Amino acid sequence: MKKCVTAIVGSKWGDEGKGKVASYEAQDAVYVCKGNGGANAGHSVIINGENTPLHHIPGGIASPGTTALIGPGAVIDLVVLLQEIALLQERGIFDILERLKISGNAHVVLPSHKKMDSLCEEFRSNPIGTTKRGIGPCYADKHYRVGVRMYDLLLDRQTLEKKIKEATQMHRLLFAQSHMAQDYIHSLLSYSTMANTLKQTGNFLSNCITDIEPIIANAIERGDKIVIEGAQAYRLDIDHGDYPMVTSSNTVTAGLLAGMGIPPQALKEAIGIDKAYNSRVGNGIFPTECCSNEGNIIRNLGHEFGTTTGRPRRCGWMDVVPLRSAKYTCGLDCLCINHLDTLGKISLELGSVKVCTAYKYKGHVIDYFPQNLDCTSSIVPVYTEIVGKWALDEHCTSFEDLPELAQSFIELVEETSGLPVKYIGTGPSNDDLIVRNL
Ligand code: IMO
Ligand code: MG
Repeated sequence: MKKCVTAIVGSKWGDEGKGKVASYEAQDAVYVCKGNGGANAGHSVIINGENTPLHHIPGGIASPGTTALIGPGAVIDLVVLLQEIALLQERGIFDILERLKISGNAHVVLPSHKKMDSLCEEFRSNPIGTTKRGIGPCYADKHYRVGVRMYDLLLDRQTLEKKIKEATQMHRLLFAQSHMAQDYIHSLLSYSTMANTLKQTGNFLSNCITDIEPIIANAIERGDKIVIEGAQAYRLDIDHGDYPMVTSSNTVTAGLLAGMGIPPQALKEAIGIDKAYNSRVGNGIFPTECCSNEGNIIRNLGHEFGTTTGRPRRCGWMDVVPLRSAKYTCGLDCLCINHLDTLGKISLELGSVKVCTAYKYKGHVIDYFPQNLDCTSSIVPVYTEIVGKWALDEHCTSFEDLPELAQSFIELVEETSGLPVKYIGTGPSNDDLIVRNL
């Protein structure tokens, strides 16, 4: 079995800038893939000089010669997908329909999933702060085994209508019981109208919807480079994150592979993506969060507002502790640290930057992320402070070009995480990337 797969894995709570290394790795890739999550993920790629926000289609499609694969583990919002296809055509990728293959086993996010997502949040005493893109309810229906798959869009119209009815009648029952859904229930489309719309989409995508298993098998047999772009991140994993403040898919490396049907033996490298400060959007534990003015400074300098929802992200200092756990749970080989330029700007404002290397929890110093969190005891970060002001030179292209304090920061992350930092993001553009020969 040829080792030809590179996995790009979010190492914290998402929005680490996975798209940058994904674009770099896609330059010599044959296949670029997404096999988990849905329109909750968001990344922007520059295509022909223009900013192109994508949710479903892997950003590596911007590299000519790549074919994009969406795996069975993803959930698809058809409206968003069609908009992306149109946008890519507008950007000059006219052959997108030939270069996009979608697993027929991927599930379809229906409008009622989004309403369910909002309702579930309203019912909670402690909301998750989901993206309200219907992700949780769609995965739930998949596990109930009533979901609509991409293959179903290729069925005859009558059978499709029957599937839609089976998939959504439970939602309608719930809506009818809730005073919060009374208005919505009147705006629901009939089963027949929904079947017409989905059938139309199925006709449009008929050449894209396929069995991706043989494509993957042949690619691995030949040793074609495959890049998997993970959506979300390690700490948002349904099994390994701080449940219930998580997303609904497996976001660790093994989850990304399973979502594509790629065997672990084909994995060549798992790259954990992080940034030089940290952020989280939505609720849940975030030990290094800065709630004071420091947090505002980091947010504004890092432009930390959501691609998918526009929400301001919670911001704080670099936390190495989750990286140490991700090294094993995600089998990381190396790291990419993005936004080193932003960290420099933060140092100019605040005179120093901080790195959390351990936690004080229940009277002990621990160097791992506690799974069964006791809400009555807080996690207190143990910081190493790097005192001094520094800024990145616009043209630094190697580690040796970096200011001494920036080098100290990277070396501290390497020493305390046990992972080499192979990539360093030094600015907003895809080219602002130092690649080290480690
Ligand atoms: P990318 O791929 C950051 C968060 C939401 C919420 C939780 C559950 O851009 O890194 P969901 O809608 O998935 O049920 O929400 O997960 N979340 C993300 N946070 N980046 C993302 O994706 C996210 N996708 C989901 O804010 O806390
Ligand atoms: Mg995002």
